[in-house]
This record gives sequence, C-alpha cells and structure tokens, in this order.
Amino acid sequence: MPPSRGSRLLLHLLLAAAAATATGHDDVAARRTMEEFAGFPTSYEGEGHSSPFRVDPEGLQRQIDELASFSDSPAPSVTRVLYSDKDVQARRYIKGIMDQLGLAVREDAVGNIFGRWEGSEAGLGAVATGSHVDAIPFSGKYDGVVGVLGALEAISALKRSGFQPKRSLEVIMFTSEEPTRFGISCLGSRLIAGIEELAQTLIKVVDNQNVSFLAAANSAGYKMHPEDLHSVFLKKDSYSAFIELHIEQGPILEKEGIPIGIVTAIAAPASIKVEFEGNGGHAGAVLMPARNDAGLAAAELALTVEKHVLESGSIDTVGTVGILQLHPGAINSIPSKSHLEIDVRDIDEKRRNDVIEKVCQSATEISKKRGVVLSEFKIINQDPPALSDKSVINAMEFAAKQLNLEYKLMISRAYHDSLFMARISPMGMIFIPCYKGYSHKPEEYASLEDMANGVKVLALTMAKLSLE
Ligand code: GLV
Ligand code: MN
Ligand code: MN
Repeated sequence: MPPSRGSRLLLHLLLAAAAATATGHDDVAARRTMEEFAGFPTSYEGEGHSSPFRVDPEGLQRQIDELASFSDSPAPSVTRVLYSDKDVQARRYIKGIMDQLGLAVREDAVGNIFGRWEGSEAGLGAVATGSHVDAIPFSGKYDGVVGVLGALEAISALKRSGFQPKRSLEVIMFTSEEPTRFGISCLGSRLIAGIEELAQTLIKVVDNQNVSFLAAANSAGYKMHPEDLHSVFLKKDSYSAFIELHIEQGPILEKEGIPIGIVTAIAAPASIKVEFEGNGGHAGAVLMPARNDAGLAAAELALTVEKHVLESGSIDTVGTVGILQLHPGAINSIPSKSHLEIDVRDIDEKRRNDVIEKVCQSATEISKKRGVVLSEFKIINQDPPALSDKSVINAMEFAAKQLNLEYKLMISRAYHDSLFMARISPMGMIFIPCYKGYSHKPEEYASLEDMANGVKVLALTMAKLSLE
C-alpha cells in the first residue's frame, strides 16, 4: 500500500519545518525539492496536526551527562564494561527512555535492546538505527551514546511533530560494541548478523578473571542456555535500512568546518592475540646469554607491527599494540610469559591481510631467535570492510540537503555495529564532528549544535525511508 496522503504530507511539512529551522528562512530550491518528494504543494495546510520539527539538544546533553555518571572511573572519564553493574544501570536508563517514548521494548538473549515505534504497515521491514553505550576503560561520554540517545531524540522529535511512520522505526542499543571484556568487538551486532562461529565461541569464552560469558550474562540478568544464542540471529528482511549516527572519531569534519559526514564504507578491522613463553628467572642471577625473555620477544614484536604497517606505504594502514602484559610482573623477575593484543586496520582488505601475514612470520622468527615458545598466535577477527548502501546514502544526502547542511562523503576508519548490520540490511552512517577528532579518551566532546544537526539528519532520513 502506498503511504497515505496524510503521512506523506506530514513528512513534507516536517521537511519544510526542519529546513526553516536550519536556515531561518524557507529556501526556494529546498522547497521545490520537498514538493517533488512529497508530491504536495507546500502551501497545502489542510491535513495533519504537525508542530514544527525541532530537536532538543539540551535535553539530549542532559541525558548524555546522566548516562556518563554510570561509570567505573572518575569523571570526565567513562568506563562501562559489558555486564558490569554500571552497564546494567545504563541499560535500565535506556529502557526507561524507550518506555517514556511509548516504544515497544524487547531484549534478546545477550541483551541487545530494541525499542520499536510500530508503523502503519508493521509487516514491512522496519527502518532501524542505533549504536552502543558500553565504554572502554577511561574513555569519553559520546562514543556510541550519541547514536543511541540521539536516535531516541530523533524518534521523540518525529513523534512531537506528528509524523506517522509507515514502516516501523526501531532504535537498537547493541550489546558490547567494544571488545573490552571478552576480546570480541561488536558482539551483539555480530550475533544479530547470524555468525555461527561466534555462537560457538561465546559458549566457552572467559574474561581475564576467568568468568565465562554465560556466567557474566547471568549476573547481569540474562539467564540463557547456549542454544538461546541462536535466537539472537535476525533474518535478512527484518530491516529495510539501518542507519547509525556517531561522532566521527577523527579530525576531518571539524578541520574542514563541515557539519555532516555521510559514510560510504567502513574500514576492515582485525585483532590478534599473541603469547610468548620463556623460562623466566632471577633478574640478578641469570646472566644475559642464558636468558629467553618473553617480555623482550613481545617488545620486539610490537616494533615489527609498526614496521610492517609503515612498510605498506599507505597512510590508511594502521596497527596498534593496545595490550601488552608481562608475567609475573615483578621488577626483579625475568618475564616468563607475555601477552599482546594487536589491532590492524585498513580500507584495503588485502593490504591489511598482508600485514597480518608478516606479523605472523615475525612472531615465529622472534620466538626462534630468542628461544621462547610462541604459545599462541590467534586471529580473533579478520573482518572484511562494509559498504554503505546507495539507497541509504541517497536518503541521508536528501535529508542533509533539505536541512541546508553541508556534508562530506567519507570513510569510517573506526568500526561500528554498522559493519555487521550491513550483512543483513542496507546500511548507512551519519558522522558529526568531534573536538579535535578525540575519541577513546576523556576529552571526547561533540557540541550541542553538531549533535542537533546529526539528530535532524537521522530523523529525516528515517522518516523518508519509513515511507518507502
Ligand atoms: C571502535 O570502538 C573501534 O575501535 O573502532
Ligand atoms: Mn569505541
Ligand atoms: Mn562507537
């Protein structure tokens, strides 16, 4: 059934109001495009009870600040790790807002949270949006959060304006986008995308305190049997589109003074765990020729990661050793074990894979040269990049144009739940500038104006896609 005259008219009025709010005047060209899209002259005022389309950035900021108070590290830093008490409090907070907005709330077995605004044609694939609220140790309050609370504000603004969706609109809060606790990034969205190996891994994986995933989930109120993990998988036609709003986490938009980034592709991430084992021993008594120091093997491997990344010759290849642990960790004991976690990314999958191959060769060579055992070299994930869908890009561009907001087509170098949602749904992402491109640290910041712009573009994109 085509969208009703009423709902198209409401979208059209919404666009007109949004454009007027953004520019302070009714731009003639934008008006003409809106008429073409809506199919009604802008002078028509007989139907619907829409109020001006406005977002409430102050209210959004209040919520962001409140959510940031659920943290295991002192402000301004935020630490919120999967299934911790703070994570449970944050989940309760998000569900509370979904309830207030009148959304139908559902939680799956691992705690992905869905808030649905049922459309007039609820049988059609929904238009979904969302992100995460878990936060890596000592990070900031905007990463992921803008894409969850901002999405809820977009829904709230659409509701206030009188908009009626045809396809249902859904906000998703994904479980554990960050790999902090179990070393698995985008845990919730990977599972939604139906990755069977992950379901198998989750049955046996433990954190660094030896707490199993199932026990941790249980303690957060998600009592599941291993077979329940499959119930998280979603079918390909569940969503007609998925759009994620996120801070850029890079400096380009701010530097160029552009308020909106429209993401065309997400770079390919990979992560690797490595362990070396040596004999250890007394730091004074064991002479240098007699040592096989697992710590030095790790240090040498860390330097070869940098070397192989730089040898790729592309500025787009990046590699990081973010975790380096030594055992037993005493100043007067030669490390008998070392543990590294290595993150390698590129927009070119083959070039990224070549780096991983070279790091693997170096790990073997270093272990031979230093007489240590390479007891583990495990590729945790080696994901392909994802492309945004043309239909979603078009809708985001349309929305930005209606709002008279300049935008830039760009690559996401960070990964996001969108990387996996792209496997089951046409995907797109909206970026907003963040202060100096800072992210994954307490100085992370996005202005009210930039957040308001992002929420507006998201709302109009969803409104448009909901009527298609
Ligand atoms: C996401 O947090 C990433 O590391 O890209
Ligand atoms: Mn992050
Ligand atoms: Mn994020």
